[in-house]
Amino acid sequence: IMARLTWHGHACFEYETTEGKILIDPFLSGNPKADIGPENIQEIAAIVVSHGHGDHWGDTVAIAKRTGAIVVAAYELAALAEKEGCRSHGLACGGGHRFDFGHVKLVPAAHGSRTDADPAYSTNPCGIVITAEEKTFYHAGDTALTADLKLLGQLYDFDCACLPIGDNYTMGPEDALKAVQWLQPDLVVPMHYDTFELIAQDAHEWKELVERRTRSKCKVLE
Ligand code: NI
Ligand code: MN
Repeated sequence: IMARLTWHGHACFEYETTEGKILIDPFLSGNPKADIGPENIQEIAAIVVSHGHGDHWGDTVAIAKRTGAIVVAAYELAALAEKEGCRSHGLACGGGHRFDFGHVKLVPAAHGSRTDADPAYSTNPCGIVITAEEKTFYHAGDTALTADLKLLGQLYDFDCACLPIGDNYTMGPEDALKAVQWLQPDLVVPMHYDTFELIAQDAHEWKELVERRTRSKCKVLE
């Protein structure tokens, strides 16, 4: 009932429930749309990272070291966090684990695999499903539209889903609309747009399209 989602630009969100606060894809330094810097992040239990690109891994190490938050990500990224002196918990795609801040599961995403910070730790990109406070939250990462999203819609009753709409590197608006139809979340939040000129989109136009063509509510965060 209390779950709260805060957007820090691009794919970075704070997801707070009564079980704890989770930071996702903390790209703040160098993010022209970030509303805060990495030094402003406080009292998080965990940092969950979808994949190794710089605009998602971002400030993970600095924030994890300062706050003591555990880094939850694909095994290889967790190993990089560990090497950098952070606490970490590695998962593989398809695997989940119950933490005291909620249950985190990595699910398939079709995208690039390089870990920009150290390519030796490259790995499959993922989406993230967090179940806490009896709510199910999905952060799609940088995925393309694939049939896997149809399966996720069958497996889960999503309260909220964050989907990329920027195109070029991820789904664009049309594919993201199809994803909403398959995922059927109560609420969908667009992300990964307008950060750079190459991914400029009209999110308000997309919201109207979603609410006309699906049963999901759409909220454009500022
Ligand atoms: Ni990416
Ligand atoms: Mn990205």
